[in-house]
Formats: sequence, structure tokens, C-alpha cells
Amino acid sequence: MERLTVECRAKYEHLFPAEVKAEQGKKYFWCGCGKSPTQPLCDTVESFGDNALLYIADLTEDVCFCNCKQTKNPPFCDGSHAKVLTEVVKNRKKNETKRTS
Ligand code: FES
Repeated sequence: MERLTVECRAKYEHLFPAEVKAEQGKKYFWCGCGKSPTQPLCDTVESFGDNALLYIADLTEDVCFCNCKQTKNPPFCDGSHAKVLTEVVKNRKKNETKRTS
């Protein structure tokens, strides 16, 4: 299987989980729509919509929030991004093949 280069990873950063240093007792609003410029979290109180999810940290620890918005266990990454990335790599390979033929 083809691997993503560093440049390619930067391009698809939104498809990788985001590690956030959460502080015990602090509230975090996970963005479920993907439109917030401060991913993986909502940017402003006004923008908290139906897709925002409240997470209150039990502990001070690194939390792996979903960034791809495909998780079945929001707001946490459950590995679903791997399927999306596999499709991206397949499509890249298909497009490169078309260009060279
Ligand atoms: S980033 Fe891992 S499931 Fe979305």
C-alpha cells in the first residue's frame, strides 16, 4: 500500500485525529460539522450548533479528538479515518495512473 508523504499528510491534516491537552474540569465543544476554523473544536459559543458536542475532561490528559468527522464514537477518534485515508490514497494512485498513460 502506498504511504502518504509528509507534504501529502499536511494537505490531509483534517483527516487525522487531533490530540488536545485537556485540563481536568474544563469544557470543550467538539465541532461535528467540520466548519470551525479551530478544529477539532468549535471556534465560538455562537457557532455551537446541533453538531457540537460537549466534552468535560475528567482528568488533565491528552485527548484524541476526531478530526475527520467519521467517528462512531464522537468526539473521540475511533480509527474510522483510516478508511477515508485509504480512499484518498487509492484515488491519488488512480489519478497518477491516468496522467501517465
Ligand atoms: S480522526 Fe480518527 S475517526 Fe476521525
